[in-house]
Amino acid sequence: MMWVKIKRYLRSFLSLKWLVLMSLCAARMVPQPSAPLALSGGLVRGNIAPDGSHVQYLALPYATVTHRFQEAKPDPKWEGIYDAYNEHVRCKQRFTNNKLSGVEDCLTVNVYSPLPQSDTLRPVMVFIHGGGFRDGSGSPFMYGPRHLIKHGVILVTFNYRLEVLGFLCLGIKEAPGNIGLKDQVQALKWVKKNIRNFGGDPDNVTIFGESAGSASVSYHVLSPMSQGLYNRAIMQSGSALAPWALQFEPIKTASLLAAEMGYKTEDPLEIYKFFNSSDADDLINHRIPRVKGETVLSQYIFVPCVEKSIPGVESFLTDTPFNLLSKGQYNKVPIIIGYNNHEGYYFAGRENDTTLVDVDFLEALPRNLLFPSERKKRKTAEKFNELYMKGEKVSKEPSALLKYAHYLGDVGIKYPVTDTIDLFLKTIDKPVYAYEFSYGGLLNLAKMAFGFRKYPGATHGDELFYMFSIPTKLNIERDMVERMTTFWTNFTKYGEPTPESSSLPKWEPAEKQDPQLLVIDKECVMAPVWGDEYIGAWNDTYSQYRRTN
Ligand SMILES: *[C@@H]1O[C@H](CO)[C@@H](O)[C@H](O)[C@H]1NC(C)=O
Ligand SMILES: *[C@@H]1O[C@H](CO)[C@@H](O)[C@H](O)[C@H]1NC(C)=O
Ligand SMILES: *[C@@H]1O[C@H](CO)[C@@H](O)[C@H](O)[C@H]1NC(C)=O
Ligand SMILES: *[C@@H]1O[C@H](CO)[C@@H](O)[C@H](O)[C@H]1NC(C)=O
Ligand SMILES: *[C@@H]1O[C@H](CO)[C@@H](O)[C@H](O)[C@H]1NC(C)=O
Repeated sequence: MMWVKIKRYLRSFLSLKWLVLMSLCAARMVPQPSAPLALSGGLVRGNIAPDGSHVQYLALPYATVTHRFQEAKPDPKWEGIYDAYNEHVRCKQRFTNNKLSGVEDCLTVNVYSPLPQSDTLRPVMVFIHGGGFRDGSGSPFMYGPRHLIKHGVILVTFNYRLEVLGFLCLGIKEAPGNIGLKDQVQALKWVKKNIRNFGGDPDNVTIFGESAGSASVSYHVLSPMSQGLYNRAIMQSGSALAPWALQFEPIKTASLLAAEMGYKTEDPLEIYKFFNSSDADDLINHRIPRVKGETVLSQYIFVPCVEKSIPGVESFLTDTPFNLLSKGQYNKVPIIIGYNNHEGYYFAGRENDTTLVDVDFLEALPRNLLFPSERKKRKTAEKFNELYMKGEKVSKEPSALLKYAHYLGDVGIKYPVTDTIDLFLKTIDKPVYAYEFSYGGLLNLAKMAFGFRKYPGATHGDELFYMFSIPTKLNIERDMVERMTTFWTNFTKYGEPTPESSSLPKWEPAEKQDPQLLVIDKECVMAPVWGDEYIGAWNDTYSQYRRTN
């Protein structure tokens, strides 16, 4: 029963109730203001952390949303001194139970600068939050800086527009698509322009992200718009090649949402006018219902798209991620990329009793596969059903649930990431460090929250808690926190995670022939990237049926 309580606590940790509670606690804490700092927008005052370790600047506006669905206006200016204290700004989004939160004009960054100040400029890490392109924020509540800034780096987190407000893609200048990613580009430009004022080196910037944030990082690697805005990239459990990270029929999707809201049209301009005049809460509150048989992964609907070229509008993405990667047309920088060994617990844990028994491997086939015939499609679905379920039916029974979780983790994260590693190695001239995070410890909060506490390993998001501090005084798992943050910050500083021999084995970059990854666990060992029959089966299927446009 104890665990039921803790589980409830952990789930609520990710919910609105907790945020409200935290804001009450925060309000009682007397801020210790820092000396004002001059930025491109005006003067700003931050807060010195109670332990004196850093100054934090919260909710600095980096751009202003003037038109819904369109690029934001860069670099806002203000009069007087801006008190950068608010940790609760987030973009409009829906929590569970139809609770909405956030605002439309939400484009802010948080900057954490270590104390004492250094004589030389510090390396900078910019984090892009996950949440399926539909929820989350850069708030210190989830992404606290304490562990990373100890290593002398400046940490930046930020918000970008989400859901239909960030990813409506109509192919017209009023709603060209990828606005959420263009927000991210503006945040990176703001960092380039301003970070020196915080003591950061604008030419020593690493971007990193998890889940949809990781897919975002891979999009920045692919986009000409992001070229020159960063020097290294880290991708944690997400890629532009994942089936949930690209929409193929954006106008159809938009018209389905309009229909949900009671307006039937397939004309892009009509859809735009309707959405532009709708209440933002209405837009976010309506959801296109899930097709019976599909999995939780199919619910990531408003996500990046390949843009139509429109006169006067700068495109972020003009070809599919697969084509750009295969042709080697991208920004080549040193890379860390990896996944966790049980990604799927998190996704299986998000299904409910009804959706579980409804799962149908045919409906569930990823949307970035395209089959020449119904027969081939059916055969492929049967192949994966047999491979993963081994005759069992998907249900909440532990043995079936574990098998289904394995399927979701592979199709949603592990295969797309492996595929990305493979394509990078074929076309890049910079080191690619691959990893599998397999550690199961007291901070695997995602695994605990989604009901898989008693199983070993790490699920989607678990590594974050070994990198970012959460609002608790507990000082646990110090060794793994130290290990992860040292790898990540050494890569940021020197372009390699293990520059000198230390107590840890050397993390070698993956080679084209027989690539290896680092298994990050109590003991760290190198292991092959390929060598799992399941991933091999996905690779065969994608070799034949990949949807390329
Ligand atoms: C979109 O909505 C905004 C705010 O309601 C309005 O000012 C603007 O004129 C609208 N744009 C179009 C093209 O209808
Ligand atoms: C299960 O999830 C589906 C899809 O999100 C939802 O429509 C349904 O109401 C949920 N059922 C229960 C019993 O919570
Ligand atoms: C980045 O910063 C680190 C630490 O200050 C420094 O050693 C390194 O040379 C810098 N890298 C670049 C590319 O400037
Ligand atoms: C990180 O870099 C520092 C400085 O080069 C080095 O002393 C340390 O051993 C490195 N850590 C790891 C895990 O390689
Ligand atoms: C995966 O598929 C790609 C593309 O067909 C192929 O080049 C590669 O060799 C495959 N990898 C393995 C390990 O089978």
